Amino acid sequence: MSFAAVVIGNYVYIDGGEITQLENGSISNQGRKTINSTLSLDLTKSWITTDVTFKRIPKTGPIKSNVVLWKDSARNAFYSWGGNWPFELNKTKAELWRFNADGSGGGRWGLETPSNPELFNSLISAANIAYTTVNNTGYALGGRATKLTTVDRKDGDGNQAIPGMLTYNFDTREWTNETASTGFSPFPSIASASAQYVPTFGPSGLVFVLGGHLLDVDRDFPYANSPAQPFDNLTFFDPVAKKTYFQKATGDIPPSPRADFCLEGLQNPEGGYEMFLFGGVNRANSSTKYHDAYILSLPGFILSIGGMRTTDIEKDKAPQGLLLFDMAELRWMDVYDTTIGAYERHKNITAWYASGSMDKMQWSSEEVKGLFVKQEDGGGMCL
Ligand SMILES: *[C@@H]1O[C@H](CO)[C@@H](O)[C@H](O)[C@H]1NC(C)=O
Ligand SMILES: *[C@@H]1O[C@H](CO)[C@@H](O)[C@H](O)[C@H]1NC(C)=O
Ligand SMILES: *[C@@H]1O[C@H](CO)[C@@H](O)[C@H](O)[C@H]1NC(C)=O
Ligand SMILES: *[C@@H]1O[C@H](CO)[C@@H](O)[C@H](O)[C@H]1NC(C)=O
Repeated sequence: MSFAAVVIGNYVYIDGGEITQLENGSISNQGRKTINSTLSLDLTKSWITTDVTFKRIPKTGPIKSNVVLWKDSARNAFYSWGGNWPFELNKTKAELWRFNADGSGGGRWGLETPSNPELFNSLISAANIAYTTVNNTGYALGGRATKLTTVDRKDGDGNQAIPGMLTYNFDTREWTNETASTGFSPFPSIASASAQYVPTFGPSGLVFVLGGHLLDVDRDFPYANSPAQPFDNLTFFDPVAKKTYFQKATGDIPPSPRADFCLEGLQNPEGGYEMFLFGGVNRANSSTKYHDAYILSLPGFILSIGGMRTTDIEKDKAPQGLLLFDMAELRWMDVYDTTIGAYERHKNITAWYASGSMDKMQWSSEEVKGLFVKQEDGGGMCL
């Protein structure tokens, strides 16, 4: 787990992570293996999880897990930043790696040189960063530096919450520590949250930052003693106006605290947007794993449960660790079928909108309402 995936052209690329193998019913260190290649899968062909074959691309870059992956659509590329060195092996100073896809499921890794090396060299490399890509810019929020992430940290140094937010511009290759230069960050510090850029709403799109824990930047505080972001009050920001907002969500609220979960988003034909949230861990409770899935639908801020994945499926029915989720039918599948049509909302969500629920929404402010609801044209009424 703790890998990251990105779709470039007809291929999904999977990078980073460790695979765990059950040995006599438990996961031992020997059962943990680092994934030493970047994997890709062809999305133009149907497959079944038992016989799907990954293409393996040799990794000249570092073998890491829990990395930030930013997608650069203009260059058919993605970048890898931060993350953990499994077992602290071969740690180096912070580097940015870029993978150039070749259009046929392969590609090459190379080191990317920043245009402002002084700032870059001062950045602390971390893991558990919330990340997303907004057009030509990668965003990295918070994170946590440990002996697994940072070359000069070792046993006994403790951990450090990373304050604020970093951005990296793919065109100018310039890093910005937003906190230090513009003073803007949606959170003083956050770790193990998930971020998603939603292009659909607001003048420049909005970045949602869900879950995770608000760690103390001055002290090495465990996750368990740090407030978690609940899912009934969601935080998002306008990346251009550099303004943070919140809005209450309703429906099936996912249990929290929830850290390091999977978040994906899709625009629907009705002009809305749905996010799919799956799994993660409860770090306040000996890292209990969640096996549930939720859909967050916008603009209604309505959450609905998308089902459970049982431990049995995880062990026996997810060969190669691969399982697919049908967001329209809300079910887990082991078959990838290219003939399935474009994404449509699940009927329960469609029914919620059809019943006029949007009119009953309690917006946190008129400004937030204005980001999500097209204002009625007040003109044309004559008395
Ligand atoms: C990756 O490489 C390491 C070190 O060479 C090795 O111990 C590990 O088994 C390899 N992982 C896989 C999945 O082959
Ligand atoms: C660490 O470096 C050694 C020497 O270059 C290499 O053989 C080994 O595979 C590396 N291990 C990992 C996990 O990167
Ligand atoms: C960004 O700047 C802030 C304020 O100077 C600093 O505390 C933080 O560690 C910097 N971020 C990174 C990733 O180095
Ligand atoms: C939601 O979160 C924001 C920002 O953290 C906070 O200011 C606001 O009071 C919260 N609203 C509710 C209803 O909890």
